[in-house]
Amino acid sequence: MTSELITSKDLKKIDPVFGQYSFDDHEQIVFCNDKDTGLKAIIGIHNTVLGPALGGTRMWNYANEWEALNDVLRLSRGMTFKSAITGLNLGGGKAVIIGDAKTQKTPELMKRFGEFVHSLSGRYITAEDVGMTTEDMDTVREVTPYVTGISESKGGAGNPSPITAYGVFMGMKAAAKFQFGSDVLEDKKITVQGIGNVGEELVEHLMNEGAKVIIDDINRERLEEVRDKYGVTIYNGNDIYSEEVDIYAPCALGATINDDTIYKLNAKIVAGAANNQLAEELKHGLILKERGIVYAPDFLINAGGIINVYAELENYGRQEIMRKTENIYNTTLEILDNAKINDITTHNAAFNIARERIETRKQENLK
Ligand SMILES: NC(=O)c1ccc[n+]([C@@H]2O[C@H](COP(=O)([O-])OP(=O)(O)OC[C@H]3O[C@@H](n4cnc5c(N)ncnc54)[C@H](O)[C@@H]3O)[C@@H](O)[C@H]2O)c1
Repeated sequence: MTSELITSKDLKKIDPVFGQYSFDDHEQIVFCNDKDTGLKAIIGIHNTVLGPALGGTRMWNYANEWEALNDVLRLSRGMTFKSAITGLNLGGGKAVIIGDAKTQKTPELMKRFGEFVHSLSGRYITAEDVGMTTEDMDTVREVTPYVTGISESKGGAGNPSPITAYGVFMGMKAAAKFQFGSDVLEDKKITVQGIGNVGEELVEHLMNEGAKVIIDDINRERLEEVRDKYGVTIYNGNDIYSEEVDIYAPCALGATINDDTIYKLNAKIVAGAANNQLAEELKHGLILKERGIVYAPDFLINAGGIINVYAELENYGRQEIMRKTENIYNTTLEILDNAKINDITTHNAAFNIARERIETRKQENLK
């Protein structure tokens, strides 16, 4: 069937896995299939130099397998640098399940997925991401210990999203301090794109601080719910990127800063929760710099969630989780200053430090 769609000649040209730009030296990629439950998943293990590869599982209705593969590769690579810059002894990994989380997710499918995770003997540890809940992780926990983000009642650290949102809020305040000279967000006009688990919590922090928040989501019900709860404004234009704001907070999916949007972007700061916000890190990071838009690197400021789940592995408590997450403020300021002094993009400033930490550990491990 597939050979009718893609000839062997074309397959070679496409270089489906190792040749993908997003492959970027992944250690291992696992394709999981189970006919009975309908499970089709891909686990990406990018790098395990600092420790086991930890990263959430995303369930999404991808248009095709290329999209799913590309997503998991980009996400797992991002986790490597996120844990490295945050100072955690974790490697980078991620998983995607292809399908609609609302209609296709069943306990059987989640358990089967857990069995695949278990088969990797701890090289990959999962957690929740888009389309997943704490309850789903509890289901996975029934078949493998290699899962975090489980309920507090079951000994876990609970839903990581509020902590992620707090870290993003800290990173955003640091970016404001850098760009505006003050980290007070009162009266700042901020668009929050995607008001899911993290987006909503971020909205709450911003409203408590007196910001002027505009929300956007593809889910109309959610928009109305969040508007009624916090008294925020729903975006009603047709191009959110062109909206003149102080801060744009991408909290939906990745790659919203791309060739189509980057020159339209009418914000002074980009700071949000979404992973892989820059479609092309080097190119789009540079354009943001040239346009004077301060970009708070996503993998730096959205690390609250991983700090929270790491607590389950390292047995530290709430106080330490909050301390580490609050420290995102200081790290972000340091990175933004470092980028300015060295005249490099903020993405590169963060990336270089993360890469250096991995390289140092690699050399130590070789001794
Ligand atoms: N949950 C965490 O702790 C965590 C940690 C780090 C990074 N992230 C990242 O943050 C982002 C949000 O995570 P979440 O847990 O809140 O997910 P979520 O699924 O709860 O929310 C995502 C929201 O984005 C909306 N959305 C999707 N496409 C959109 C579009 N094109 N325009 C506007 N809205 C759109 C969805 O309708 C949904 O309401 C993701 O990119 C995730 O990878 C989450």
